Amino acid sequence: MSSDGLNRRERVVNRNGDTNEENMCRMVSREVSLERPQNQSIMKRVMSVMALSIAILLMIYYTTTQCNDTKELVMASATQSIKDSPIRRQVMCSQDYNEDRVRFPSCAPQRCGRFVSDSVITESETKHLLLVAKRGLSLGGSSGGSTILCLHTGVLSMANNFVNIYKLIERTQRKEKDLKELFTEKDLQVYRTVTNKIRKRIAIHFGIPSAQLYLTAHTFFRRAKNPQNKYNEYWRRHVDKQNVKFVDFTSLLYLSTYGADFSGGRFIFTDEMSNQTIEPKFGRVAAFTSGSENEHFFERVTSGTRYALLMTFTCDPKFAVNGLQVDMPKVWHGFAAMVWRIWTSNPFDGNSV
Ligand SMILES: *[C@@H]1O[C@H](CO)[C@@H](O)[C@H](O)[C@H]1NC(C)=O
Repeated sequence: MSSDGLNRRERVVNRNGDTNEENMCRMVSREVSLERPQNQSIMKRVMSVMALSIAILLMIYYTTTQCNDTKELVMASATQSIKDSPIRRQVMCSQDYNEDRVRFPSCAPQRCGRFVSDSVITESETKHLLLVAKRGLSLGGSSGGSTILCLHTGVLSMANNFVNIYKLIERTQRKEKDLKELFTEKDLQVYRTVTNKIRKRIAIHFGIPSAQLYLTAHTFFRRAKNPQNKYNEYWRRHVDKQNVKFVDFTSLLYLSTYGADFSGGRFIFTDEMSNQTIEPKFGRVAAFTSGSENEHFFERVTSGTRYALLMTFTCDPKFAVNGLQVDMPKVWHGFAAMVWRIWTSNPFDGNSV
């Protein structure tokens, strides 16, 4: 009995709820027709229909913008192959290059954006770099799930800190020969070829003379896993140029594939209206201008291991890195120390780029 009554009441409420606006409109037009002549009443009727339409449009707008909160556009999926021309997106430049544009007018980004290509680096080059990455990174290991190795400075994540891989080798009483075995001449040659190809591709894409664009020491291999503790949350959103002021372009070479080698770990641009996703794929190059027009993060890896080479490029010759520490340890010692200082005084903890 009482539940029947409740149901009936609900039904009434529902009916009222469903047609609330319509009823109001009808009431309005009824009032109008009592007080006004016929043609004005039609006008009012039209206006109320319009008001109702606007209300519906507003509702649709509201619900779709709510949907946008979780909207994701896949810029490049792991299953597709981007061979002929790259996938490109142009975005409005932020103010972050104002200073660089004055100092380096023909290099600093005038137009900003991103591109993804699967045909910049060959399969054998990618395979080779994956082996180099695995070999080097196997000597370290961050407790936070993201381990980096920078060949230019020797920086290697170890537990909650960094060590210098070249010093590490010395300390463990290995001879120079071991270092040469860790990274052979061929390894370094492939590394140089790959970083150079990517530098040139960025220059072409953004229309700048490649001789004015330099690789920086803020370039490293990264191995990312699902962290066992919360020491460093590498999946935070960030802007590269806010972390390291002198970088103008960022690039990633993926050494493993989303869905096959690991899950999670997709790269995401956090745009205002919708997030744009790049799924890592073995041999895929992604590149973008480093300012706040390209805020991004990469998702926490939930299983497997994700390998990538991160490269940054600058227009400022002062921050150009011309060699590897393994080639000329003395020359680069000071530079490495400086880079370390920059890294450790920033939110950068080996994870934020
Ligand atoms: C983009 O992703 C971030 C992190 O997952 C999320 O907080 C944000 O709401 C997303 N933005 C849009 C517009 O979908």
